[in-house]
Amino acid sequence: MCGIVGAVNCKNLKSFLLKGLKSLDYRGYDSAGVAYIENDVINMHRVVGRVELLENELSGPINSRIGIGHTRWATHGEPLIKNCHPQKSFHETFTLVHNGVIENYLELKRDLIKKGYAFTSDTDTEVIANVIDKEYENTHDVLLSINNALKIIDGSLAIAMIFKNDKEHLYFAKRKSPLLIGIGTDTNYLASDALPMIKVAHKFIDLSDDQYGYISKDDVKIFKDQKECAYKYTTRNAELLNIDLNGYPHYMLKEIEEIPACMSRLIDNYYDGKEFKFSKEMLKAFKDADTISFIACGTSYHASLIGKYYFEKINKRANVYIASEWAYFPKFESKGKEVFVMVSQSGETADVISCMKLIKKHGNDTLTITNTKGSTLERDATYSCLLYAGVEIAVASTKAYNAQVALLYLLTNAIVENTSSIGLLKNNNIVLKQVISMKKDIKKIANKIKDSSHAFFLGRGLDYYVALEGSLKLKEITYIHSEAFPGGELKHGPLALVEKGTPVFGFITNKCIEAAIRGNFSEVKARKGTVYSFVTKENAKKGDDIVIDDLDVDLAPLAIVMIAQYLAYYTALARNNDIDKPRNLAKSVTVE
Ligand code: M6R
Repeated sequence: MCGIVGAVNCKNLKSFLLKGLKSLDYRGYDSAGVAYIENDVINMHRVVGRVELLENELSGPINSRIGIGHTRWATHGEPLIKNCHPQKSFHETFTLVHNGVIENYLELKRDLIKKGYAFTSDTDTEVIANVIDKEYENTHDVLLSINNALKIIDGSLAIAMIFKNDKEHLYFAKRKSPLLIGIGTDTNYLASDALPMIKVAHKFIDLSDDQYGYISKDDVKIFKDQKECAYKYTTRNAELLNIDLNGYPHYMLKEIEEIPACMSRLIDNYYDGKEFKFSKEMLKAFKDADTISFIACGTSYHASLIGKYYFEKINKRANVYIASEWAYFPKFESKGKEVFVMVSQSGETADVISCMKLIKKHGNDTLTITNTKGSTLERDATYSCLLYAGVEIAVASTKAYNAQVALLYLLTNAIVENTSSIGLLKNNNIVLKQVISMKKDIKKIANKIKDSSHAFFLGRGLDYYVALEGSLKLKEITYIHSEAFPGGELKHGPLALVEKGTPVFGFITNKCIEAAIRGNFSEVKARKGTVYSFVTKENAKKGDDIVIDDLDVDLAPLAIVMIAQYLAYYTALARNNDIDKPRNLAKSVTVE
């Protein structure tokens, strides 16, 4: 949530800030703003809405080499100009952008007001600026003021900050929200992820919680509790450079159609033609484990449900927990060895990070499955497996879900040394490409349901897990209310919601549930609901809407979900929605 950029001694500052913010605006798009020092004055431009509006506002040249920028996903205060970032402190000593949530901001604000501070916004960000400002009034030392402020402030923050009209230094602090430094040539950068810096920085420094400091044109100083910290340089995947639409009208469509290539890339990364390439130590940890517990949110939670099924198939006990629940009600197995698997496309989901902290404290091994090299969850886990799906820009996750499922399939097969699974996964790609060739038929269904207010998804077994994901995709980008149920549950309540014309999508990829789910279709039709069935050939009957070739039942989710992804995409298109940036959402959910 929220994107941050900053640079010192940047010759093309305007272009860096605007391009950087554009590359980050999938993290939040309620407002955008920049601040920079020009002729010894801090100039600030802020707009409610997208970075494109800010671009219009900044039409002239900027004579500055130091600046910060922000895209906002509103938490405290409506998206109004006064609440946009950057925010200035009361004495205008500090101008800062912030990502995160300050838990005690009301208390701090009350305190500051008593001490004569006035506020111009409803944000918790302005409170941070003023806490640092107040400390500075006493200490006249910027670094000490940040250090002291961190002791007073509770919550998550990543900040990039300009001090008065100091053109040489950009200050920062980080706790719980992601922030990293990019090292360029005679220019240093700050950002909330590597994307805006990938073309200009040749190495990175990942900041840890409670670190603060500054960057200058050729120096980086990092502190924690007033002690200087040593740091290591890291790199990022060059694949981050591939963020062009390549002729597609939307990232979501591009990302769905990249799925077959993602599957092949995963195989290449985890199988060398003879044996699996997973870390031997990690495989041993899984072999020795009595229980595997997944922790994830949203789409990654849905992929984890399939992961649980794969682990159970190799006779491992498995649990799946929603991170935001487990974080408040943590549960550890009392007997045997329990390995936790954190599944997160971004690797920065705050709820999952909270769980990771508790698990580490408890001493269990963790595996992070993520698409983001260098992310917090990747760095903090005992083991990590990258998805190699390439950057996913659309807020609605598609290719990352498929990569998560495929990776879990490969991992569980690697544990039992079943290399024949590779052939099955390769063959599966033929069906995935078949789904792409059927997109026009899916579009026709989307056009039929585009005006619906409600929709339901039914499945049984693995198909139910895919129904959950299909339903999330539909509601997320079309704003049609949608729910998913195991077929058998329909008559226990949800059937009451089915009316004339209500679209009900049903999946059948396993012979053993065909009759049962067709029974559910009949129940829907008897209430005049409209059933759309997506099935494999061996389960097909006259009148089914989309029929795909037969495939291994364990891999069917990879194909069936693509039908649901297309369905959501084309329905959102027919409703004229902003497909890649659905309302109220953000790609990387870095607040709890
Ligand atoms: O980055 P993560 O995989 O941890 O994100 C979890 C969810 O926020 C995410 O999957 C969300 O549900 C997607 N926008 C769904 O398309």
